[in-house]
Amino acid sequence: MKSLVILISGRGSNMEALIDAKLPARIAAVISNKPDAAGLEIARVHGFETKVLNQRSYPVREAFDTALAEIIDAYEPDLIALAGFMRILGDDFVNRYCGKLMNVHPSLLPAFPGLDTHARALKEGVKIHGCTVHFVTSQVDHGPIIIQAAVQTLPGDTEETLAARVLQQEHHIYPEAVRWFMEGRLKISGNRVEVSNAVADGSILYSPELS
Ligand code: GAR
Repeated sequence: MKSLVILISGRGSNMEALIDAKLPARIAAVISNKPDAAGLEIARVHGFETKVLNQRSYPVREAFDTALAEIIDAYEPDLIALAGFMRILGDDFVNRYCGKLMNVHPSLLPAFPGLDTHARALKEGVKIHGCTVHFVTSQVDHGPIIIQAAVQTLPGDTEETLAARVLQQEHHIYPEAVRWFMEGRLKISGNRVEVSNAVADGSILYSPELS
């Protein structure tokens, strides 16, 4: 059976979605760069092996990346899933795991890479926002896109209400993307990802709806 390692930094709700999805893959370990990440306890409760690599002990980025790669390689995972892993990884690390490193991001990339995506989306007045699962490249929050989910912004939305609706969709699309990967259905061609047997009907999302 194929295996994955999940990297987290905090709450761990996307990690939990991956756990709950009963994927055709073994979760070999959950690794956090922060000792107090709440997701670590959730992983332990589910019986998964956890590891902490405290980023404070590694002021030099390359040293942290090397230590992280050593831990990961011991598990020989097919995929490394970043699930709210809020540390920028260096080029060497990203290239080492090219095509095997996935991330979920709370915006419709390439719009709103980085932090505070929901507040920025509201400030820009976008009518459609969402989330993206993509393969990781050395450019932060960029890389071949596997799946996206769109949500409408609503009158009266706050950062919190919008974030909650987007997070719900993250929990749908991340397990789906990982499942496709494990089933061998993803092919990266340049900056595009072909998903074999995926259903797309060309439908259009209006926000607000047309009357
Ligand atoms: C999620 O919204 C995820 O998309 C985001 O951090 C949150 C982690 O929540 N990741 C990024 O912004 C990556 N650039 P979680 O710990 O509950 O999964």
